Amino acid sequence: MERTLVIIKPDGVQRGLIGPLVTRLERRGLRIVALKMMHIGEALARQHYAVHEGKPFYEPLVEYISSGPVVLMVIEGDGVVHMVRQTVGATDPAKAAPGTIRGDFGLSIGRNLIHASDAPETGKQEVALFFEDDELLSYQRDNDRWIFEQ
Ligand code: RTP
Ligand code: MG
Repeated sequence: MERTLVIIKPDGVQRGLIGPLVTRLERRGLRIVALKMMHIGEALARQHYAVHEGKPFYEPLVEYISSGPVVLMVIEGDGVVHMVRQTVGATDPAKAAPGTIRGDFGLSIGRNLIHASDAPETGKQEVALFFEDDELLSYQRDNDRWIFEQ
């Protein structure tokens, strides 16, 4: 089953947007299988964004993601990596479509509120970086037949 890692970044927590951002994902029908808060330390931040090492925005990015508590979530289901990226919107909130999280809540690329894995393989690696296997719950939802044509 495909999994994606979502992070409500420190600006989302500071702005009191945990509820509204989780709601955007939940109301689409996406299934959350893990959820917790933590303060990402510098070393973990560097590891999570290692793919961007050396780019001009890397140091400010590490500082941003480790600047305060975040909410971490794992969402599971067929095609969730793509669907969550759609709901999150383009990287730069100034260019993100209205109706997406970044397009509706943000204005600036360095304060874009939320992270989502960019490919199934990345999702697997990022989930493993932040969660132990026993933190991921396995459960059925009774209303799935009203979300998915089965
Ligand atoms: P994320 O990894 O946080 O979900 O964002 P993303 O895939 O949409 O964008 P990515 O290219 O992975 O960039 C990671 C984060 O770095 C910051 N960024 N700043 N100033 C810039 O040109 C720039 N480019 C990227 C953003 O906070 C972005 O989310
Ligand atoms: Mg990315």
